[in-house]
Amino acid sequence: MDKLVIQGGNRLNGEITISGAKNAALPILCAALLAETPLKLSSVPALKDVGSTIKLLENMGAKVTVIDDKVTLDASLITNQEAPYEMVKTMRASILVLGPLLARFGHARVSLPGGCAIGSRPVDLHIKGLQAMGAEIHIEHGYIEATTKHLPNKRLQGARYYMDLVTVTGTENLMMAASLANGITVLENAAKEPEVVDMAECLTKMGAKITGVGTDVITIEGVERLSGAEHAVVCDRIEAGTYLVATAMTGGKVRLNNARADLLDAVIEKLRDAGATVNSDKNSITIEADGYAKLKAVNIRTAPHPAFPTDMQAQFMAMNIVAQGVSKVTETIFENRFMHVQEMQRLGADISIDGNTALVKGVSYLDGATVMATDLRASASLVLAGLVARGETVIERIYHLDRGYENLEAKLNSLGADVKRVN
Ligand code: EPZ
Repeated sequence: MDKLVIQGGNRLNGEITISGAKNAALPILCAALLAETPLKLSSVPALKDVGSTIKLLENMGAKVTVIDDKVTLDASLITNQEAPYEMVKTMRASILVLGPLLARFGHARVSLPGGCAIGSRPVDLHIKGLQAMGAEIHIEHGYIEATTKHLPNKRLQGARYYMDLVTVTGTENLMMAASLANGITVLENAAKEPEVVDMAECLTKMGAKITGVGTDVITIEGVERLSGAEHAVVCDRIEAGTYLVATAMTGGKVRLNNARADLLDAVIEKLRDAGATVNSDKNSITIEADGYAKLKAVNIRTAPHPAFPTDMQAQFMAMNIVAQGVSKVTETIFENRFMHVQEMQRLGADISIDGNTALVKGVSYLDGATVMATDLRASASLVLAGLVARGETVIERIYHLDRGYENLEAKLNSLGADVKRVN
């Protein structure tokens, strides 16, 4: 299995380009199932999860061509509406085919995603929302069996549905399902993440009638059919945030191209509180900092957008473990998203956990060691720690990283880091 070997201590300087957002690309690829003519995407990141999603869609009969960041998907001839366990177990986001399959074909058989390292992550709200639209759904042998054959013209019916928790993919699944339903659907307590907004923009180009996206009440008026369109995936705010924290920790001056500060208000606010200088224009962000010894530790509390994103929690913990002072990091979205803590303790971090809050005392340095990646963002946080640790840090199981970061070591090394991939 591949490992990353990092020599710590280098400052980061220069500029890199941020890729398209993984968490926008995945739902948008699945939205291709709704269209009767080809969907043409650009700025699609070359990530394992993107590859897995494309394989899943091809398995259903979609014709997909990939040239660099451009992906064309033709779902005019879908032969089966099944997402098998062996594909879903590798990527929970496969649940995003459920809504489109049910909306367009009236039938779907999707494996229940297993749990994952950061939490049980049920999909009960996805299922309840589809049932509110009239779908008949039962779970057997670990599969979600859904049908609309008993409904008027075999179509989902518009409904008003209040989501008990803010769910990103739940909102996306139900928005896709509602786009071809009979009548009007109102989703209350909807997610406002930029990736939800980007997906809605793509659906609208395909002919969907959606209003209110980006607020907590989204209204969708179902239409007869959707067609292909052209769409450029929004930039990845979490990738951008990760490189901003890396630069704050190592010190230096870095400019991120294809990055939008308006998607990162809460993160940029915290970086400024820590003492970094952050400036931006329409599609770039520049950060300048003196390194972790001059940073002030900041308190973090994750919550749905526009509050501080859970996908940036581990990265800020990596910063807090070497910043000055004591800080609290509270995770309110997932029940087990502190897997990076014990790995950071191996590097010399001083962290104690009390329920969903970690108390972090900044230490004056970290010692390189061998650590293990457990989930995508935890892996990223260990890379950040390795960039500033004394000596060599080896990160094992970095397949987690490859799910969400395109060319990570190339981008870091182009800024002056010393990161090698070995197997
Ligand atoms: C999306 O996951 C992202 N993934 C996650 O990013 C991100 O951490 C998460 O949203 C929160 O922002 C993609 O978009 C592909 P949720 P999702 O449904 O949709 C509970 C990364 O690192 N819940 O918003 O699966 C759930 O257990 C990944 O890029 C239910 O209880 O997250 C969690 O506690 C990690 N029932 C909370 O809601 C449901 O039916 C939020 O989950 C759905 C969710």
